[in-house]
Amino acid sequence: MKLFSGNANQSLSEEIANYLNIPLGKCVVHKFADQEIFVEIKENVRGEDVFIVQSTSYPANDHLMELLIMIDAVRRSSARRITAVLPYFGYARQDRKPGPRTPISAKLVANLITEAGADRVLTLDLHAGQVQGFFDLPTDNLFAIPVMSRDLQANYNINNLTVVSPDVGGVVRARALARRVDSPLAIVDKRRDSPGESEVMNVIGDVSGRDCILIDDIIDSGGTLCNAAKELLSNEALSVTAYVSHGVLSGAAVTRIMSSKLKELVITNSIEPTVSINVAHNIRVISVADLLGEAVNRTALEKSVSSLFD
Ligand code: R5P
Repeated sequence: MKLFSGNANQSLSEEIANYLNIPLGKCVVHKFADQEIFVEIKENVRGEDVFIVQSTSYPANDHLMELLIMIDAVRRSSARRITAVLPYFGYARQDRKPGPRTPISAKLVANLITEAGADRVLTLDLHAGQVQGFFDLPTDNLFAIPVMSRDLQANYNINNLTVVSPDVGGVVRARALARRVDSPLAIVDKRRDSPGESEVMNVIGDVSGRDCILIDDIIDSGGTLCNAAKELLSNEALSVTAYVSHGVLSGAAVTRIMSSKLKELVITNSIEPTVSINVAHNIRVISVADLLGEAVNRTALEKSVSSLFD
């Protein structure tokens, strides 16, 4: 097998390569003066099982284009099989038409990856499970919950926890974590008036005196989780911590988290953490490299990946 990395998350790719005990494949990805992307694979991949790691994170379009061009380069170099490893699949939130004359961009991006020449997709915590079906290719959608629940058990007193979904759409995910740590479940009933704005309306369930663990797939502006934390504390929660799969953290989100009521925000490294994330006093990054590495290993060996969901 050969593992290559785009520029989106080199450190995660290196961690995955370490887990697999193989070197990262040599390739050059750079831009011409007019910002066109150029890729050169610097080693033979003929007949190889090739994995290309690239999150389509900020800048989303550049990273997506890099991925497409890398897949094309590897395909034209006669690789036997190409797996696009997307620790974070940006565009997944555009999974339905929000109004007339609007696109379903998640499907378009899935089509682009397929057309570029990928044979398989390996990803993590898709925004909505059904996005898996947008790829007309075998697609494995891993979950960060096993990694999160191990971290939770190592760092928190699980006897006083209540797992909280920050919105009604996240209940299935929150229930899965609650079941693992054997805790009750609560729900924040969030209403969003316009895109980018979030407003907390109501807490369903008893959080008084409890250490609340919010769980979400994405933190972007931070509005959803900061507002949920405020609401939980005004309902007499003892503390509020958040576990999130993908730390998108756009704009002033890190500052917002630092000045929020959140005791701690735990994100995974599916998106390369920025310097400001690394120095923030209440943000901690946990690694999904072993999870992805093991999934890559099993894919290469044609073994089942289903035990990685346990
Ligand atoms: C929404 O459905 C998602 O699961 C996240 O809750 C949302 O993307 C978070 O966005 P923000 O941090 O901007 O509130």
